[in-house]
Amino acid sequence: MAHTLIIFGASGDLTSRKLIPALYLLHQKQRLPPQTRVLGVARTRFDDAAWRNELAATTQRYVGQTFEPAAWQAFAPMLFYQPGDVSRLEDYASVAARLEAIEAGSPATRLYYLATAPELYATAILHLGQSGLADESRGIRRVVIEKPFGRDLASARELNQIVHRVFAEHQVFRIDHYLGKETVQNLLVLRFANAIFEPLWNRRYIDHVQITVAEEVDVGRRGAYYEQAGVLRDMFQNHLLQLLMITAMEAPPRYTADFVRDEKVKVLRAVRPLSPDDVVRDTVRGQYEGYRAAEGVAPDSQTATFAAVKLQIENWRWQGVPFYLRSGKAMSCRTSQIVIQFRQPPVMMFSEGRRSHHDPNRLVIQIQPAEGIQLHLQTKVPDAGMTLRTTDLDFRFAREYAGTMPDAYQRLLLDALLGDASLFARSDEVEWAWSLIDPIQTTWDTTGQPPLELYPPGQWGPQASDDWMHAQGRQWFDVCPVLH
Ligand code: BG6
Repeated sequence: MAHTLIIFGASGDLTSRKLIPALYLLHQKQRLPPQTRVLGVARTRFDDAAWRNELAATTQRYVGQTFEPAAWQAFAPMLFYQPGDVSRLEDYASVAARLEAIEAGSPATRLYYLATAPELYATAILHLGQSGLADESRGIRRVVIEKPFGRDLASARELNQIVHRVFAEHQVFRIDHYLGKETVQNLLVLRFANAIFEPLWNRRYIDHVQITVAEEVDVGRRGAYYEQAGVLRDMFQNHLLQLLMITAMEAPPRYTADFVRDEKVKVLRAVRPLSPDDVVRDTVRGQYEGYRAAEGVAPDSQTATFAAVKLQIENWRWQGVPFYLRSGKAMSCRTSQIVIQFRQPPVMMFSEGRRSHHDPNRLVIQIQPAEGIQLHLQTKVPDAGMTLRTTDLDFRFAREYAGTMPDAYQRLLLDALLGDASLFARSDEVEWAWSLIDPIQTTWDTTGQPPLELYPPGQWGPQASDDWMHAQGRQWFDVCPVLH
């Protein structure tokens, strides 16, 4: 069966930076299903040749040395362009006619990719329905929806209702590009293809879990968007909660989309929602100095660019084990990592003099930029009495496997083309995630508590975040990045 990918918002950044480079690399690796074509739709008045030319230049820029002119020449004829405005119903008729011409009468699976401004998602979906483009009588129809999926629970629910008027849930692929990252998938493998971690993966042996997604970049030119979003909507509702779910979920019976997502949703359902008092006590919010001077940002902006949140998962596995989530812009370095911190041994018989405290065991799963896993252990320093030192077992993808790590979009686009939704968010998952984030955002917005702490760029967020951890007898694991 042939496949047609229709990208709405084809003249935008996402298309040139991520989607087309990913498709080109999949083509180069001969992974695309046979007879795959791509139809770009946007308001810009390109024709096929102009769009291909433009994409040749941008793809070369984004894929760098892997770009091969001959491979591009073979790939480019798969690309077509149809001028059209997603907000105008009439334009869908010309998209339909163009699709018929491209597919030349033989039925194809169609994947509609909404890479437009989020305000247009609902309109595009309704228009796809009204114009008959979602009709499955002549082939499978799927839709990919980019983030953000709503800006709170109410808007996400409304969008889900609109989506479900036109598409059944199994046709819908909500993107969270963190799920396309290799190390995030490897976390599933680490947990569920190895038997040695499972007995330890619970409240009996784990003291707490830290999930950090730190970014070195600031908001740059995205101030106008970021001002309306802030770190909770931009990073927590999606990426951080996805990492939390994969770290905390039970083993699904099989690796199929609904089994995996059922287990993930159970985690969110077990998270204790934060009351306003909890929010004041269990969250830290910060803003980097200089944010207010960014383009599109209010001079007295209260938008948080950093947050730390403590969540409790109330189930048999995790009761009493805090999960600390933290993310921010303009931090020390770019690093995403999950730290599983184990409890101390019940008795430490190697206490030397006053030094009875040693680093606990930690499993550090580094997602980016250097992907790998480290297990921190106590070892005996040779020829030095019973002096102990923390050292590690160190696994690095780069050392073990040749080649570069594929960008998340390669995996996600291919899965969506082939209809595997395991690495996409389901409607209930998205709504549960918003139901955990909304109370935090609302308390911040309505009470101004906890106070917005300013931090200088290049730090691990505000000092208040370190103090907050210390007050709980814990410490952030701040290493930049763990692996090199
Ligand atoms: C996006 C956010 O979803 O994720 C951005 O909107 C953020 O603000 C980005 O920079 C981080 O993604 P990555 O893959 O660079 O960690």
